[in-house]
Amino acid sequence: MIHPRHLFDQHGQGQVFRFFDDLPADKQDALTRQAASIDLDEIDQLVKTLVKKNAPTESHGADPEPADYIPILSKNQNSEAWQKATEMGEQALRNGRVAAFTVAGGQGTRLGFDGPKGTFPISPVSEKSLFQIFAEKIKSSGERYQCSIPWFIMTSLQNHDETSAFFRKHSFFGLDPESLHLFPQGTIPIVDQEGKILLNDKHNIAMSPDGHGGSLRALARSGATRWMEEKGIDLLSCFQVDNPLVKCIDPTFIGFHLNEDSQLSSKIIVKKDPNEKVGVFCKKGELTQVIEYSDLAQELQQQTDPDGALRFRAGSIAVHIFHRELVEKLGGNSGEGNLPFHIAHKKNSSLDEGGQLIEAPAIKFEMFIFDALPFAENPLILEALRESEFSPVKNAQGSDSPESSRSDQLRQFARWFKASGINLNTDSDGIPEIKIEVSPQFADTKERFVEAWKSLSPQPEIKNGLVVE
Ligand code: UTP
Repeated sequence: MIHPRHLFDQHGQGQVFRFFDDLPADKQDALTRQAASIDLDEIDQLVKTLVKKNAPTESHGADPEPADYIPILSKNQNSEAWQKATEMGEQALRNGRVAAFTVAGGQGTRLGFDGPKGTFPISPVSEKSLFQIFAEKIKSSGERYQCSIPWFIMTSLQNHDETSAFFRKHSFFGLDPESLHLFPQGTIPIVDQEGKILLNDKHNIAMSPDGHGGSLRALARSGATRWMEEKGIDLLSCFQVDNPLVKCIDPTFIGFHLNEDSQLSSKIIVKKDPNEKVGVFCKKGELTQVIEYSDLAQELQQQTDPDGALRFRAGSIAVHIFHRELVEKLGGNSGEGNLPFHIAHKKNSSLDEGGQLIEAPAIKFEMFIFDALPFAENPLILEALRESEFSPVKNAQGSDSPESSRSDQLRQFARWFKASGINLNTDSDGIPEIKIEVSPQFADTKERFVEAWKSLSPQPEIKNGLVVE
């Protein structure tokens, strides 16, 4: 068998073994083992097409068109269809066909929090972590539909142990530990601007998680999809780790997905302005796809319909229902469909030629989960209300930050209180003067809050710091 060192030489990546001869035997072994696990043909291809861009780029022909979606407005006009979808989704839940799935392998560089993002304290009064909020939502859905809802969480090699320790420390937030399945996603080497694989130690290749699209490979190859099949689970309700407003389990969404016989359904919100940095759902010919905000021509981003609404307004919030078979097809070893990689330019710590650790611009390769769309039969897109379902924590400050997300949660709780006839003072932005919180176990929608509040006896005093549980 050829030693990986020779293979790396042959592929123009010999620098990886630059310090090899000076390493002690155990570290030589470690580097050799790590190097042997890397698919150099894949790296060659990525460097050629994405870093050096000297392969012909695919011609995509005509401009994209906006993709059709089911607007939230139709809920009033066509309430029968919404009711039917809800019932179908509820039945699927009762039949145990649904699992929850969170992608939590990201590095959270923009937030700059020292720990897995899911452990970040985010609720406005009791500072529940993102993971706790999701756990409580999933638990209460399981109780409501009297079913077990397994929860799959994709971690990364970097945050896996800390994530599982966090759940253990908090007694799995009341979930059955057996229902929680944590598995790390794949990794891929980080390269410099010339496409050369970097080291972050003399015996260690710098690796990064392979993007949220890596989840399909990770689900299929970790045996998760096989386990689901054995349990009769064919629907995965997928969401990202950073959005505390997400409906982890939404029967109506599940029902629309089933009714349309879709393999991949997605939720969207209407973009607030042309420059909002979310991907947009488009159609190219027959194929539905998400085009990243940075890849959609400025001119198209600004276009409006005759009524003044943005033409390309269907912004992705990364909430999907996947059919298990699509995950198997795209993530398994059959090679029936591979998600493409994209590149991200990020700063990274790596060794320079002299072996010093420096912060330098680097290139990471990532797959995106929404690139599964063109492979899916009958993709379905459903509008969600931003104020009720989307407030991600991405940045340390400003928009999409902990502060903006806590304000959005407070606004939501205030709307629920007001809908119950509670007299609550709010400012012109809808933020209540006092801090209040509603536990997902008490209610996770306005309708459920109104119902549950009515039956509370005695009702708690409305005061600063109230947590309704
Ligand atoms: P983001 O695109 O926000 O990336 O991830 P990030 O790595 O968390 O944050 P930055 O860009 O470094 O600031 C969106 C979702 O996809 C998951 C994240 O955990 C988050 O839920 N993700 C991202 C993965 O699971 N794996 C990845 O490789 C990347």
